[in-house]
Amino acid sequence: PYVNTKEILERANKEFYAVPALNINNLEFLQAIIDAGVEEHSPVIIETSEGAIKYAGNGDIKLGAKLFVSMVESYARNVDIPVSLHVDHGKNFKIIMAAIQAGYSSVMIDASEFPFEKNVAETKKIVEIAHSLGVSVEAELGRLVGIEDNVAVESHEAALVDPDEAKLFAEETGVDFLAPAIGTSHGAFKFKGEARLDFARLKKVKDLTGLPLVLHGASSVPEDIKKLAETYGADFKGAKGVPGEILAESVKFGINKVNTDTDLRMAFIASLREFLSKNPGEFDPRKYFKTPKELVKNVIRERLRLLGCSNKA
Ligand code: G3H
Ligand code: 13P
Ligand code: NA
Ligand code: ZN
Repeated sequence: PYVNTKEILERANKEFYAVPALNINNLEFLQAIIDAGVEEHSPVIIETSEGAIKYAGNGDIKLGAKLFVSMVESYARNVDIPVSLHVDHGKNFKIIMAAIQAGYSSVMIDASEFPFEKNVAETKKIVEIAHSLGVSVEAELGRLVGIEDNVAVESHEAALVDPDEAKLFAEETGVDFLAPAIGTSHGAFKFKGEARLDFARLKKVKDLTGLPLVLHGASSVPEDIKKLAETYGADFKGAKGVPGEILAESVKFGINKVNTDTDLRMAFIASLREFLSKNPGEFDPRKYFKTPKELVKNVIRERLRLLGCSNKA
Protein backbone atom coordinates (compact mmCIF):
# COMPACT_ATOMS: atom_id res chain seq x y z
CA PRO A 1 0.00 0.00 0.00
CA TYR A 2 0.80 3.70 -0.37
CA VAL A 3 1.68 5.03 3.11
CA ASN A 4 3.04 8.08 4.92
CA THR A 5 6.86 8.14 5.12
CA LYS A 6 6.50 8.92 8.84
CA GLU A 7 4.89 5.52 9.40
CA ILE A 8 7.83 3.76 7.71
CA LEU A 9 10.48 5.78 9.57
CA GLU A 10 8.93 5.70 13.04
CA ARG A 11 8.97 1.91 12.98
CA ALA A 12 12.56 1.92 11.69
CA ASN A 13 13.51 4.29 14.53
CA LYS A 14 11.93 2.04 17.17
CA GLU A 15 13.42 -1.15 15.77
CA PHE A 16 16.90 0.22 14.89
CA TYR A 17 17.07 -0.28 11.15
CA ALA A 18 17.16 2.03 8.12
CA VAL A 19 15.15 2.22 4.92
CA PRO A 20 16.74 3.42 1.69
CA ALA A 21 15.16 6.43 -0.01
CA LEU A 22 15.71 5.85 -3.70
CA ASN A 23 15.63 8.60 -6.32
CA ILE A 24 13.74 8.13 -9.57
CA ASN A 25 13.24 10.17 -12.73
CA ASN A 26 11.27 7.63 -14.78
CA LEU A 27 9.25 4.43 -14.86
CA GLU A 28 12.11 1.94 -15.12
CA PHE A 29 13.86 2.82 -11.85
CA LEU A 30 10.49 2.74 -10.06
CA GLN A 31 9.82 -0.79 -11.34
CA ALA A 32 13.27 -1.92 -10.15
CA ILE A 33 12.65 -0.45 -6.67
CA ILE A 34 9.19 -2.00 -6.29
CA ASP A 35 10.47 -5.40 -7.42
CA ALA A 36 13.40 -5.19 -4.97
CA GLY A 37 11.08 -4.28 -2.08
CA VAL A 38 8.64 -7.08 -2.91
CA GLU A 39 11.41 -9.69 -3.24
CA GLU A 40 12.95 -8.63 0.10
CA HIS A 41 9.55 -8.10 1.74
CA SER A 42 10.76 -4.63 2.72
CA PRO A 43 9.34 -1.11 2.92
CA VAL A 44 10.71 1.34 0.33
CA ILE A 45 10.76 5.14 0.08
CA ILE A 46 10.70 6.61 -3.43
CA GLU A 47 12.01 10.16 -3.78
CA THR A 48 12.06 12.72 -6.57
CA SER A 49 14.20 15.85 -6.74
CA GLU A 50 12.86 19.17 -7.98
CA GLY A 51 14.71 18.44 -11.20
CA ALA A 52 12.94 15.08 -11.50
CA ILE A 53 9.51 16.74 -11.05
CA LYS A 54 10.31 19.29 -13.77
CA TYR A 55 11.62 16.52 -16.02
CA ALA A 56 8.56 14.30 -15.61
CA GLY A 57 6.18 17.18 -16.28
CA ASN A 58 8.15 18.31 -19.32
CA GLY A 59 8.63 21.63 -17.54
CA ASP A 60 5.19 21.71 -15.85
CA ILE A 61 5.72 21.09 -12.11
CA LYS A 62 2.07 20.42 -11.25
CA LEU A 63 1.91 17.85 -14.02
CA GLY A 64 5.23 16.28 -12.96
CA ALA A 65 4.08 15.94 -9.34
CA LYS A 66 0.75 14.40 -10.39
CA LEU A 67 2.42 11.93 -12.74
CA PHE A 68 4.77 10.70 -9.99
CA VAL A 69 1.93 10.37 -7.46
CA SER A 70 -0.26 8.39 -9.86
CA MET A 71 2.62 6.17 -10.96
CA VAL A 72 3.90 5.41 -7.45
CA GLU A 73 0.42 5.11 -5.93
CA SER A 74 -0.68 2.68 -8.65
CA TYR A 75 2.29 0.37 -8.08
CA ALA A 76 2.01 0.75 -4.30
CA ARG A 77 -1.66 -0.29 -4.26
CA ASN A 78 -0.75 -3.42 -6.14
CA VAL A 79 1.83 -4.77 -3.65
CA ASP A 80 1.97 -5.91 -0.01
CA ILE A 81 4.89 -3.73 1.08
CA PRO A 82 4.69 -0.15 2.43
CA VAL A 83 5.68 2.36 -0.28
CA SER A 84 5.91 6.15 0.18
CA LEU A 85 6.72 9.09 -2.09
CA HIS A 86 8.93 11.98 -0.92
CA VAL A 87 10.18 15.29 -2.37
CA ASP A 88 13.99 15.33 -2.12
CA HIS A 89 15.77 18.66 -1.42
CA GLY A 90 12.72 20.89 -1.82
CA LYS A 91 13.89 24.49 -2.09
CA ASN A 92 11.18 26.00 -4.25
CA PHE A 93 7.91 26.76 -2.43
CA LYS A 94 5.82 26.22 -5.59
CA ILE A 95 7.27 22.75 -6.18
CA ILE A 96 6.79 21.73 -2.54
CA MET A 97 3.17 22.95 -2.66
CA ALA A 98 2.52 21.21 -5.99
CA ALA A 99 3.78 17.95 -4.48
CA ILE A 100 1.70 18.30 -1.30
CA GLN A 101 -1.41 19.05 -3.35
CA ALA A 102 -0.72 16.16 -5.73
CA GLY A 103 -0.59 13.68 -2.83
CA TYR A 104 3.08 13.11 -1.93
CA SER A 105 3.51 11.29 1.41
CA SER A 106 6.30 13.60 2.61
CA VAL A 107 8.47 16.52 1.56
CA MET A 108 11.95 17.73 2.38
CA ILE A 109 12.38 21.46 2.90
CA ASP A 110 16.08 22.10 2.38
CA ALA A 111 16.91 25.56 3.71
CA SER A 112 20.26 24.34 5.05
CA GLU A 113 22.22 26.87 2.99
CA PHE A 114 20.68 29.73 5.02
CA PRO A 115 21.60 30.90 8.55
CA PHE A 116 20.04 28.86 11.38
CA GLU A 117 17.17 31.30 12.11
CA LYS A 118 16.07 31.39 8.47
CA ASN A 119 16.31 27.58 8.20
CA VAL A 120 14.04 27.38 11.28
CA ALA A 121 11.54 29.89 9.84
CA GLU A 122 11.36 28.25 6.39
CA THR A 123 11.05 24.76 7.86
CA LYS A 124 8.36 25.84 10.33
CA LYS A 125 6.29 27.35 7.51
CA ILE A 126 6.36 24.09 5.51
CA VAL A 127 5.71 21.95 8.61
CA GLU A 128 2.53 23.94 9.38
CA ILE A 129 1.12 23.56 5.87
CA ALA A 130 2.23 19.95 5.37
CA HIS A 131 1.01 18.70 8.78
CA SER A 132 -2.41 20.27 8.27
CA LEU A 133 -2.70 18.05 5.19
CA GLY A 134 -1.26 14.85 6.71
CA VAL A 135 2.11 15.13 4.95
CA SER A 136 5.34 14.60 6.91
CA VAL A 137 8.46 16.76 6.65
CA GLU A 138 12.25 16.35 6.52
CA ALA A 139 14.75 19.20 6.98
CA GLU A 140 18.53 19.46 6.89
CA LEU A 141 21.11 21.00 9.23
CA GLY A 142 24.67 21.70 8.21
CA ARG A 143 26.02 21.47 4.68
CA LEU A 144 27.10 18.49 2.60
CA VAL A 145 30.67 19.32 1.72
CA GLY A 146 32.18 17.35 -1.13
CA ILE A 147 35.88 16.84 -1.74
CA GLU A 148 35.56 18.96 -4.86
CA ASP A 149 34.77 21.92 -2.62
CA ASN A 150 38.40 21.70 -1.52
CA VAL A 151 37.93 23.25 1.90
CA ALA A 152 40.33 23.19 4.83
CA VAL A 153 39.69 20.82 7.75
CA GLU A 154 38.42 23.55 10.11
CA SER A 155 35.86 24.89 7.65
CA HIS A 156 34.86 21.29 6.83
CA GLU A 157 34.09 20.74 10.52
CA ALA A 158 32.17 24.02 10.57
CA ALA A 159 29.93 22.75 7.77
CA LEU A 160 28.81 19.75 9.87
CA VAL A 161 25.70 19.73 12.07
CA ASP A 162 25.87 21.34 15.53
CA PRO A 163 24.08 18.88 17.89
CA ASP A 164 22.81 21.63 20.22
CA GLU A 165 21.35 23.48 17.25
CA ALA A 166 19.72 20.21 16.14
CA LYS A 167 17.88 19.93 19.48
CA LEU A 168 16.67 23.52 19.27
CA PHE A 169 15.74 23.07 15.61
CA ALA A 170 13.64 19.98 16.34
CA GLU A 171 11.81 21.73 19.19
CA GLU A 172 11.15 24.94 17.28
CA THR A 173 10.07 23.43 13.95
CA GLY A 174 8.24 20.22 14.85
CA VAL A 175 9.96 18.55 11.89
CA ASP A 176 9.40 14.77 11.53
CA PHE A 177 12.85 13.64 10.30
CA LEU A 178 16.19 15.38 10.33
CA ALA A 179 19.19 15.16 8.00
CA PRO A 180 22.35 16.08 9.96
CA ALA A 181 25.47 16.79 7.86
CA ILE A 182 28.14 14.41 9.18
CA GLY A 183 30.65 14.30 6.32
CA THR A 184 28.93 12.85 3.25
CA SER A 185 28.34 14.61 -0.05
CA HIS A 186 26.28 13.99 -3.17
CA GLY A 187 27.50 12.26 -6.31
CA ALA A 188 30.20 9.73 -7.20
CA PHE A 189 33.27 11.54 -5.82
CA LYS A 190 32.86 11.75 -2.07
CA PHE A 191 36.29 11.20 -0.56
CA LYS A 192 39.88 11.65 -1.72
CA GLY A 193 41.39 9.58 1.07
CA GLU A 194 39.68 7.18 3.43
CA ALA A 195 35.91 7.51 3.90
CA ARG A 196 35.14 8.85 7.35
CA LEU A 197 31.92 10.10 8.94
CA ASP A 198 31.49 11.94 12.24
CA PHE A 199 29.62 9.29 14.25
CA ALA A 200 30.20 11.05 17.59
CA ARG A 201 28.29 14.04 16.23
CA LEU A 202 25.57 11.76 14.81
CA LYS A 203 25.10 10.01 18.14
CA LYS A 204 24.72 13.36 19.94
CA VAL A 205 22.06 14.48 17.46
CA LYS A 206 20.19 11.20 18.02
CA ASP A 207 20.39 11.42 21.80
CA LEU A 208 19.27 15.05 21.83
CA THR A 209 16.39 14.78 19.32
CA GLY A 210 15.24 11.15 19.26
CA LEU A 211 14.06 11.77 15.69
CA PRO A 212 14.39 9.43 12.70
CA LEU A 213 17.64 10.63 11.08
CA VAL A 214 18.52 10.82 7.39
CA LEU A 215 21.88 10.18 5.73
CA HIS A 216 22.22 12.08 2.45
CA GLY A 217 24.94 11.27 -0.06
CA ALA A 218 24.86 7.63 1.00
CA SER A 219 25.83 5.90 -2.23
CA SER A 220 28.60 3.29 -1.99
CA VAL A 221 29.85 3.33 -5.59
CA PRO A 222 30.36 -0.48 -5.50
CA GLU A 223 33.64 -1.61 -7.08
CA ASP A 224 32.01 -4.29 -9.28
CA ILE A 225 29.55 -1.77 -10.75
CA LYS A 226 32.33 0.74 -11.40
CA LYS A 227 34.43 -2.00 -13.09
CA LEU A 228 31.54 -3.19 -15.26
CA ALA A 229 30.82 0.35 -16.46
CA GLU A 230 34.51 0.98 -17.16
CA THR A 231 34.86 -2.31 -19.06
CA TYR A 232 32.26 -0.95 -21.48
CA GLY A 233 33.72 2.52 -21.95
CA ALA A 234 32.70 4.61 -18.90
CA ASP A 235 35.25 6.89 -17.24
CA PHE A 236 34.65 6.90 -13.48
CA LYS A 237 38.24 7.57 -12.41
CA GLY A 238 38.47 8.60 -8.76
CA ALA A 239 34.84 7.71 -8.00
CA LYS A 240 34.49 6.79 -4.33
CA GLY A 241 31.45 6.30 -2.10
CA VAL A 242 30.54 5.41 1.48
CA PRO A 243 31.59 1.75 2.03
CA GLY A 244 28.84 -0.68 3.07
CA GLU A 245 30.38 -1.26 6.53
CA ILE A 246 30.20 2.47 7.24
CA LEU A 247 26.55 2.60 6.13
CA ALA A 248 25.77 -0.30 8.46
CA GLU A 249 27.61 1.47 11.30
CA SER A 250 25.66 4.69 10.68
CA VAL A 251 22.46 2.72 11.36
CA LYS A 252 23.81 1.74 14.79
CA PHE A 253 24.28 5.43 15.58
CA GLY A 254 20.73 6.38 14.63
CA ILE A 255 20.34 6.70 10.84
CA ASN A 256 16.90 5.49 9.62
CA LYS A 257 16.68 6.85 6.03
CA VAL A 258 19.53 6.34 3.60
CA ASN A 259 19.34 8.55 0.49
CA THR A 260 20.62 6.77 -2.59
CA ASP A 261 20.67 7.98 -6.16
CA THR A 262 24.19 7.66 -7.62
CA ASP A 263 24.45 3.86 -7.08
CA LEU A 264 21.22 3.29 -9.04
CA ARG A 265 22.33 5.56 -11.88
CA MET A 266 25.72 3.83 -12.08
CA ALA A 267 24.26 0.31 -12.01
CA PHE A 268 21.79 1.19 -14.75
CA ILE A 269 24.38 2.75 -17.05
CA ALA A 270 26.91 -0.06 -16.45
CA SER A 271 24.44 -2.72 -17.51
CA LEU A 272 23.04 -0.64 -20.38
CA ARG A 273 26.56 -0.12 -21.76
CA GLU A 274 27.25 -3.85 -21.55
CA PHE A 275 23.97 -4.77 -23.23
CA LEU A 276 24.30 -2.27 -26.08
CA SER A 277 27.89 -3.28 -26.70
CA LYS A 278 26.90 -6.97 -26.91
CA ASN A 279 23.68 -6.35 -28.89
CA PRO A 280 24.48 -3.68 -31.48
CA GLY A 281 21.33 -4.45 -33.48
CA GLU A 282 18.86 -4.00 -30.60
CA PHE A 283 16.61 -0.94 -30.53
CA ASP A 284 13.53 -2.01 -28.52
CA PRO A 285 13.62 -0.14 -25.16
CA ARG A 286 11.80 -2.96 -23.38
CA LYS A 287 14.72 -5.21 -24.32
CA TYR A 288 17.65 -2.88 -23.67
CA PHE A 289 16.20 -1.74 -20.31
CA LYS A 290 15.77 -5.34 -19.07
CA THR A 291 19.26 -6.08 -17.70
CA PRO A 292 19.78 -2.49 -16.38
CA LYS A 293 16.56 -2.80 -14.35
CA GLU A 294 17.69 -6.17 -12.99
CA LEU A 295 21.06 -4.80 -11.92
CA VAL A 296 19.43 -1.78 -10.23
CA LYS A 297 17.06 -4.17 -8.46
CA ASN A 298 19.94 -6.33 -7.24
CA VAL A 299 21.91 -3.33 -5.94
CA ILE A 300 18.80 -2.29 -3.98
CA ARG A 301 18.17 -5.81 -2.64
CA GLU A 302 21.71 -5.89 -1.29
CA ARG A 303 21.21 -2.47 0.33
CA LEU A 304 17.90 -3.55 1.93
CA ARG A 305 19.65 -6.50 3.55
CA LEU A 306 22.61 -4.38 4.68
CA LEU A 307 20.35 -1.78 6.35
CA GLY A 308 18.29 -4.41 8.17
CA CYS A 309 14.95 -3.65 6.54
CA SER A 310 14.47 -6.91 4.66
CA ASN A 311 11.37 -8.69 6.03
CA LYS A 312 10.17 -5.50 7.78
CA ALA A 313 7.19 -5.05 5.44
O1 G3H B 1 20.31 15.24 -4.14
C1 G3H B 1 20.56 14.96 -5.28
C2 G3H B 1 19.85 13.83 -5.92
O2 G3H B 1 20.80 12.86 -6.30
C3 G3H B 1 19.02 14.31 -7.09
O3 G3H B 1 19.80 14.91 -8.06
O4 G3H B 1 18.96 17.12 -8.87
O5 G3H B 1 20.23 15.55 -10.37
O6 G3H B 1 17.88 15.03 -9.69
P1 G3H B 1 19.17 15.71 -9.31
P1 13P C 1 24.07 9.97 -3.58
O1 13P C 1 24.53 10.91 -4.64
O2 13P C 1 25.20 9.53 -2.70
O3 13P C 1 23.33 8.80 -4.14
O4 13P C 1 23.07 10.78 -2.61
C1 13P C 1 21.73 10.95 -2.97
C2 13P C 1 21.02 11.92 -2.07
O5 13P C 1 21.47 12.32 -1.02
C3 13P C 1 19.68 12.35 -2.51
O6 13P C 1 19.13 13.27 -1.61
NA1 NA D 1 15.29 13.71 1.09
ZN1 ZN E 1 20.57 14.53 -0.66
